[in-house]
Amino acid sequence: MRESVVTFQNVYKSYPFYHHVRGVKNFLFDFPRNLNKIQNQQYEALRDINFEVYRGEKFGIIGHNGAGKSTTLGLIAGVLKPNKGRVIVRGRISPLLALGAGFHPELSGKENIVLNGVLMGLTRREVQQKMDEIIQFAELDDFIDQQIRVYSSGMVARLGFSVVAHLDPEILLIDEVLGVGDIRFQRKCVKKMREFKGSDTTMILVSHSLPSVVNLCDRALWIEDHEVRMIGNAQEIAENYCKAAGVEMDLNPQKPVVNTEVTNVIF
Ligand SMILES: Nc1ncnc2c1ncn2[C@@H]1O[C@H](COP(=O)(O)OP(=O)(O)O)[C@@H](O)[C@H]1O
Ligand SMILES: [Mg+2]
Repeated sequence: MRESVVTFQNVYKSYPFYHHVRGVKNFLFDFPRNLNKIQNQQYEALRDINFEVYRGEKFGIIGHNGAGKSTTLGLIAGVLKPNKGRVIVRGRISPLLALGAGFHPELSGKENIVLNGVLMGLTRREVQQKMDEIIQFAELDDFIDQQIRVYSSGMVARLGFSVVAHLDPEILLIDEVLGVGDIRFQRKCVKKMREFKGSDTTMILVSHSLPSVVNLCDRALWIEDHEVRMIGNAQEIAENYCKAAGVEMDLNPQKPVVNTEVTNVIF
């Protein structure tokens, strides 16, 4: 039987909605009502979301900007809490959610690798064993002892990906943060992610690159207007998404992403 590692049960997530109140006088004139409006207005980012991700599965999340993809990953990572419903996660999370998130600017690259590894639940020794591989993959040899704050955004992105991909991830969460890396590095990342195919690592990938989703993922979730629009086979979902957007695209999963056009590997 397939073991589910991520379960969403009727999940709702709202953010406070900040109103622009015109004029202090107006605001004070009807103070209780205005205060109530500010405090209670919520913006619903996710509405009644239900899905499961199984161990070892490569799972894509697609949808337009603002649909709720990053919110979904934030809930899985535990950095956000649902307002209603349940999010159940079984396993160690390796999140790559935002550029530089989880990195301390005053610490060196090396120190940040150790910090992240330990926060992900590995021992110092386990992190040390992977250190060279992580540095090599991130191509930061000369900079690795420098403080992160002097890194370019591309360097931060390379280190971020390298850390989560090499520290023995159980549940890997990737949120389109690779867009900042150059094309050669993006290809390297896609190649690395392909290595997880057939492994026990569960990968949840938010990406605007449909060819990457089709190529890397077994199943996909399409979120539209904060709700589940469709869930199923990655290729089918991507094709339906294209159709709805009126875009034609060759989405053959056999086509290796690393050999296709530049647009196909952009995250
Ligand atoms: N911290 C926040 N406060 C208020 N609104 C937010 C916050 N984060 C996201 N939102 C809103 O929630 C919706 C979903 O956001 P997000 O999950 O980031 O979408 P996606 O990743 O699909 O582009 C968007 O409309 C966004 O503006
Ligand atoms: Mg997002």
